[in-house]
Amino acid sequence: MRALLLDYTERRLRLDNRVAEPPEGEVYLRVLECGICGTDRDLAAFDFGAPPASESALILGHEAVAMVERSTHSRFRAGDYVVPSVRRACSGSCASCSAGRRDLCLTGDYRERGIVGLHGYCAEWAVDRAEDLFPVPTSLVDVAVLVEPMSVVEKAYAQAARLHLGETRSVVILGAGAVGILAAWAGLQRGWQVTVVSQEPENSLRGCLLRSAGVTFLNRLPGMVADIVIEACGSAPLASAAIGCLRPLGVMIVLGARNEVVRLPFLDLIVGNRILAGSVNAAPDDFRRAIATLGATEPSWLAAMIERRPLDRAVESITSPGGDAIKVVHRLH
Ligand code: BGC
Repeated sequence: MRALLLDYTERRLRLDNRVAEPPEGEVYLRVLECGICGTDRDLAAFDFGAPPASESALILGHEAVAMVERSTHSRFRAGDYVVPSVRRACSGSCASCSAGRRDLCLTGDYRERGIVGLHGYCAEWAVDRAEDLFPVPTSLVDVAVLVEPMSVVEKAYAQAARLHLGETRSVVILGAGAVGILAAWAGLQRGWQVTVVSQEPENSLRGCLLRSAGVTFLNRLPGMVADIVIEACGSAPLASAAIGCLRPLGVMIVLGARNEVVRLPFLDLIVGNRILAGSVNAAPDDFRRAIATLGATEPSWLAAMIERRPLDRAVESITSPGGDAIKVVHRLH
């Protein structure tokens, strides 16, 4: 089968043919599409990640939609559409992993499909356990590749909801990548006032899409106030500046900022009872909520985010990003 391989010996990304996994797991999948994100670019730069133990290459891809080819588990039948989760339990099965919350793993010894220790889904075929798959209705197949990034957004909002002691009315989102834009759609559905702050010009494609949906789109931060800030831009200086936007009791969830030395306004956190929290990955409930949220989002806003490409372009998509595409997706079948 064709697969997108990150070769740790030759230190390069390539499309290759490899023997498909034997259909021994519970559910054998025909992978239909696989999206790419910043994590895939970091992996291709060898910034982090690892191939499966005793292998020298990793099949990339963790944002996938697949069709069940055959299943030995009663929950799935051939022809069902599914989205797989990313993280698998740590070897020691800590309290979180044992309770089904691998996203809150306590040991850090977890594995993630297409990221660390396990092959991903940018391949024609894959095998999974039924418990790692989420069914998606046929009506959502065209946008189901957005379920995984939306699950990250749903977890971030769930964390914010637990931490925010006041009434939530507004959110400022830093970054207009796929996660930032999905956070905007999910914020609108909660009835909040949504602002996206990003560096693109205000009349850019992303700016126009967001504004047409009723989101305020700006490329500067000063003057913003919000109950919740979602950092989805990768910039620690911007995240630290955005603490100044939080109302008293406000919560900032950090999703992508890098380790950098920045000024942290501790006094603002203290005197306003403000909270700064990190969030990664997603729980099963976040995947289910992501499917529901996508189902309730205006289909044209979601369609505008996706640019589909043949698998032949996968290496180029990761190593030479550029252009206007918000979410690049490769077709496997
Ligand atoms: C994925 C998460 C994963 C994280 C860290 C993100 O791109 O969406 O599922 O936990 O990378 O590896």
